[in-house]
Order: sequence, then C-alpha cells, then structure tokens
Amino acid sequence: MDYNTLLFEMRGKVALITLNRPEALNALSPELTAELTDLLDQLETDDNVAVVVLTGSEKAFAAGADIKAMKDWSYMDVYKADFITATWERISRFRKPTIAAVNGYALGGGCELAMMCDFIIASETARFGQPEITIGTIPGAGGTQRLARFIGKAKAMDMILTGRMMDAQEAERSGLVSRVLPSAELVEGTLKVAEQIARLSSPIAMMAKEAVDRAFETTLSEGIRFERRLFHSTFATRDQKEGMSAFSEKRKPQFNND
Ligand code: HXC
Repeated sequence: MDYNTLLFEMRGKVALITLNRPEALNALSPELTAELTDLLDQLETDDNVAVVVLTGSEKAFAAGADIKAMKDWSYMDVYKADFITATWERISRFRKPTIAAVNGYALGGGCELAMMCDFIIASETARFGQPEITIGTIPGAGGTQRLARFIGKAKAMDMILTGRMMDAQEAERSGLVSRVLPSAELVEGTLKVAEQIARLSSPIAMMAKEAVDRAFETTLSEGIRFERRLFHSTFATRDQKEGMSAFSEKRKPQFNND
C-alpha cells in the first residue's frame, strides 16, 4: 500500500499509521484524509489487524486542516462535498481499538482527529489546541462536542474561545490524554500499549470499546442496559471460556478471536 501522505507498517497485529506531510506540519489535506479513509477501510476487514496506532512527526501530530487549501472554498463547496463528514470521521467509526500517539502540535483538526481515536497518549512536548477562532472559523470535526466531553465545559470554552494551547501536563490533568511519555519513547511506548491490547481477544476488545463509546451517546440506564447485553454475549464466545479456564488452570490464555 503506497500513499503520498501516510507511512504504514504492521508491528505484529498492530497497524502503525504515520501522518507524513512534513512540509506542512501534517496539515490534513483532502488527499491525506482520503488516503487515511482508504487505509482504514482495508484495516477494518483485515483479521491480522487488532489495533491501530495513529501518529505524526516529532514536531507535529497534525497542525489542523489545511488552511491554504480551505481559504478560498465557498459555502457551496463545503456543503456539497459534506466537508468533514465525508472523509474525516472514518476513524471515529473504526470498530477496532485505536490509539493516537501525539508528539508536538495537535491543533484544530489535528486535535479533533486525535480525539476521534479511543484514547490519546502524549509526549512531554505535545501541545493541544482548537485555534480555529483565530482564523475566523470554529472547530468543524467534532471539536466543540468531543473536547467538552473530554475536559468539561469550563476548559473547553476557555480553549475554544481563546484558541490557546494546552501542554501535555495540563492535558493529562484535564483528562484529554491518558498517559504522558518522554518524547523519544512515545511511539515505541504507545506500540507496547497497543500490543498489550492486541494480545487479548479482538472481538471482546471491540465489544468493550463499543460499550464505553455508548456512554457518550445515551442515558446511564440505557448505557447500562447496552453494556449488560454485550456482557452477556461475551459468554457465547470461546474466548470467554478460554480466558476464565486459563485463570482457573493458572496458565496464560490463548485467545483465538472467536
Ligand atoms: C496549512 C500549515 C498549517 C495548516 C502549518 N502549516 N500549519 N499549512 N495548514 N494548518 C505550514 C506553514 O504554512 C508552513 O509552511 C509550515 O507548515 C511550517 O509552519 P510554521 O508556521 O512555519 O511553523 P511554526 O512557526 O513552528 O508554527 C507552528 C504552528 C503554526 C504554531 C503550528 O504553523 C500554526 O499556527 N499553524 C496553524 C494552526 C491552526 O490554526 N490550525 C487550525 C486550522 S483550522 P510554509 O510553506 O509557509 O513555510 C482547522 C479546522 C478544522 O483545523 C475543521 C475541521 C476540519
């Protein structure tokens, strides 16, 4: 698979995708989002892929949507193309676990793309922001909704109304990122976390992800009802039998993803 704006490699059952537009700090051009969508479509149905890690460069995860591409677009251009929904949101619908490994800038659409992953691991140098207001627009790839869910109203309003950046420590304190790693260890450290997930049962991990995601879409009682149905359904899998038998027999489980 050859792409102009992405690098891709498999590490065991973990797919590592690296955004690769160094000349523009990985600004998310239409070509990049189309390539990312195409790649994710293929990874979704590939049984050899259990987890996806999405990363950028040392300087930038992604500095946002491509401002130079967007600046002359008209309302009709963006409306007819359904700009954002058509391509960007593919990763938010990806059914297997996804982790964003963020070094450097994750701004605007870059921050939104990271938030579409299941969780974010940041390096000490990561900087998050939704600076759209400073260029005369607002977040358009879920930033107003997801950032508020991640860090609450006060900080989301502060970030989105001022356009200021948040460093990795503040992002961890605020709940935007799950862990902070030294910059030089970010990608390998994130791959280790991904490999840990990849050793478990893939369909069970997918159910766990689906259940957590439900928490952000529904009421508590409906969410718990949804969780209960999925929890019960794990008892229909061989991997649940294997996991619990292995524990009882004091051995490591061998999951077969079924
Ligand atoms: C296009 C970009 C870009 C972007 C950087 N570049 N960000 N090109 N779109 N979002 C380009 C610069 O023009 C420059 O190219 C090169 O990358 C290096 O950037 P510099 O600005 O020279 O680097 P530096 O001085 O280190 O500053 C880094 C920065 C700054 C603070 C990240 O680049 C910046 O503020 N970028 C824009 C951030 C932003 O506003 N993002 C939100 C975009 S709107 P040249 O060729 O000029 O040297 C958005 C809306 C999302 O994302 C809505 C849904 C999609």
